[in-house]
Amino acid sequence: MKQPERSQPIQPDDFEETARQFLPRDAYDYFAGGACDEATLRDNRDAFARYRLLGRVLRDVSARSLQTTVLGQTVSMPVMIAPVAMQKLAHQDGELATARAAARAGALMIASTMATTSLEEIATAGRGGPRWFQLYVYKDRGLTAELVRRAEASGYGALVLTVDGQVWGRRYRDMRNGFSLPDDLVLANLADAGHQRMPGSAPATSGLASYINSLLDASLDWNDFANLVESTSLPVVVKGILHADDARLAVAHGAAAVFVSNHGGRQLDGSPATMDVLESVVDAVAGRAEVYLDGGVRRGSDVIKALALGARAVAIGRPVIWALASAGERGVARLLTMLGEECDIAMALCGAANPAALDRSLLV
Ligand code: GLV
Repeated sequence: MKQPERSQPIQPDDFEETARQFLPRDAYDYFAGGACDEATLRDNRDAFARYRLLGRVLRDVSARSLQTTVLGQTVSMPVMIAPVAMQKLAHQDGELATARAAARAGALMIASTMATTSLEEIATAGRGGPRWFQLYVYKDRGLTAELVRRAEASGYGALVLTVDGQVWGRRYRDMRNGFSLPDDLVLANLADAGHQRMPGSAPATSGLASYINSLLDASLDWNDFANLVESTSLPVVVKGILHADDARLAVAHGAAAVFVSNHGGRQLDGSPATMDVLESVVDAVAGRAEVYLDGGVRRGSDVIKALALGARAVAIGRPVIWALASAGERGVARLLTMLGEECDIAMALCGAANPAALDRSLLV
């Protein structure tokens, strides 16, 4: 795949057009798309525009820092890299480039179970940087336990259990494209179990959907979640929470953190934007666990809005993929710098010198 660097991006959104121009259609659609009408996908972004920041003045913001902690791990900014699958579809260096850029920036990367690079290789590339491992629960519970053990052994600081993907969303772009993982790429974490390949592409079906629906365990419930928490030395984050009652259940079953997410609008179309449910989840959790959010975060001001509503940190997925596709490690590094700068300016103009100084009074 040719990987030229296109015209100089100056803001986060600039990467997408570059990526779109030279990614194969099915790969672009896989990353860009959502479920059904893609209403939730659009609403995630639109929701940020419905919140306004009521800036504060004359508060001495001359010494500022975006540094914070997530589950006790220091991160340079409250922006994490979401667990996007199959990053070698975007760039030949895939997850390794993302891991290197994240580690250099001191930003936390969440590596995906469905990565095209093994979790051990990602850990080596991102050495020195904070990293968590995203987990899917397979019907083969031995395989799932083995993934947990490998993540523990490779220095990942937490498990992020995705709970909204046990049945795959209806993604018409992928069906139209007969989307599947090309033959030269594998799901590297699953090679030992023989699940590294997807069914080949076929008209009007998604190989990914067939793969997930045949291998992941749709019987997963809160008891399994509690068992997972018991079985590992790592804190467990539950990702895919929208309902306040589920947030309470997550805390009651031992979640260290709750991730407000609708899977980037790729699962239940018609679910609300994550920003629109964040407040109710934060209130339900009531300080007993950290709360994070993903979905539609594109600007530093989006990050500041989510933090003001009570999120400890947010995660970005598609922006990283577009930056990766545009310029590999350098692209992701540049994106993180841009977002950091936007966050810093928005935070300062809200009269806050650090993330802890942000609160709901800033939002209208
Ligand atoms: C993977 O998590 C996907 O949404 O495709």
